[in-house]
Amino acid sequence: PPLDEILNLHDFEAVARAVLPPKAWAYYSSASDDEIAIRENRAAFQRVWFLPRILRDVTKVDWSTTILGQKSSLPIYISATALGKLGHPDGELNLTRAAGKHGIIQMIPTLASCSFDEIVDACPTKSTSIPSAVRASPLSDYVQHIMLHRYVNRDRELTKKYVQHAEKRGVSGLFITVDAPQLGRREKDMRMKFVDDGAGAKVQEGQSGVKKDQGIARAISSFIDPSLAWKDIPWFRSITKMPIVLKGVASPQDAIMALEAGVQGIVLSNHGGRQLDNARSGLENLVDIVAALKTRGPWPNPKFSVFIDGGVRRASDVLKALALGASAVGVGRGFLYAFSSYGQEGVERAIEILRDEFEMNMRLLGITNLSEINPDLVDASRLGTG
Ligand code: FNR
Repeated sequence: PPLDEILNLHDFEAVARAVLPPKAWAYYSSASDDEIAIRENRAAFQRVWFLPRILRDVTKVDWSTTILGQKSSLPIYISATALGKLGHPDGELNLTRAAGKHGIIQMIPTLASCSFDEIVDACPTKSTSIPSAVRASPLSDYVQHIMLHRYVNRDRELTKKYVQHAEKRGVSGLFITVDAPQLGRREKDMRMKFVDDGAGAKVQEGQSGVKKDQGIARAISSFIDPSLAWKDIPWFRSITKMPIVLKGVASPQDAIMALEAGVQGIVLSNHGGRQLDNARSGLENLVDIVAALKTRGPWPNPKFSVFIDGGVRRASDVLKALALGASAVGVGRGFLYAFSSYGQEGVERAIEILRDEFEMNMRLLGITNLSEINPDLVDASRLGTG
């Protein structure tokens, strides 16, 4: 269908499923084992209800925010998803260009199909055409910011080299994935044979010892170090001044350990259901983890951000997470399916759709600014917490 008939992020998924080669669809859409975690990521949002306020002047609404100290036109960042060229010849550059134009932050995956430098070179230094709805916000211009995602290599010197190179090139944050000492069994993907057809040609680290009979994910992930442990966090802090965020936290104890380890944030995530199946969703873990963090210092803590990802497809999903204490949320497949179907324009359309949804949802919730969001605006009693 023509792009203007796409009305929400679910529509992109239907198009991607129809147009992607089976191997790409399997890699992007798959999740581990019985795919319970990925289904629950969506379902959890449906267990949180809004309690809107009325009769407040909501003429002017502003949904911009700050993510790790950088301005963002939406409380959403583009989470790392590997192998963009499986979906579209321009791969991750579709995301970079759309993000630059619309003032949002992209996390560059370790296993990007475009090289790191190619992606950074595609960033305009300043957004030229901030869309009008965003111009209404007090933030009148955005400098494009990107974050680096790292799977940690067994060869730490290599990891150090990539991190320090990224910092030199102006990257504003480092997300270290901590929920993947071994890749989950994504059976849909494993049924496909890995053929290196160029999509992953520029993957920097993933090619050694490739096993070709267990799908793409396994083929490209053999370099990941399963010995990564808390004792390595001070080393990361010593090699970079970028804010460090641990991606893939689920337990309140680990959240507290992250705070105490001196990192700047955590992502509550089950990796889009692709790692440990039956791991509870980020949204459901949020309530318990915020409660635990409140026992260890000021809240909200300006020095420690809690992000969530998994199943976010609507601005209403994001607003629920923010009400329960998240600083911002990550979106993976939503943008991946958008560029797989329509390239850069698809990503731009996805951002515009989300922006329209923020405007409407915030007006109907009775808030004009994200700082007004609080737990009283939601009923989360049906979440499985406590
Ligand atoms: C991912 N994700 C991911 N995460 C990560 O830390 N490193 C990675 O290389 C990847 N690669 C990746 C590939 C693909 C195809 C998908 C779909 C996802 C997980 C991603 O960053 C994020 O946690 C989830 O995608 C969030 O869930 P949704 O938005 O896809 O539902």
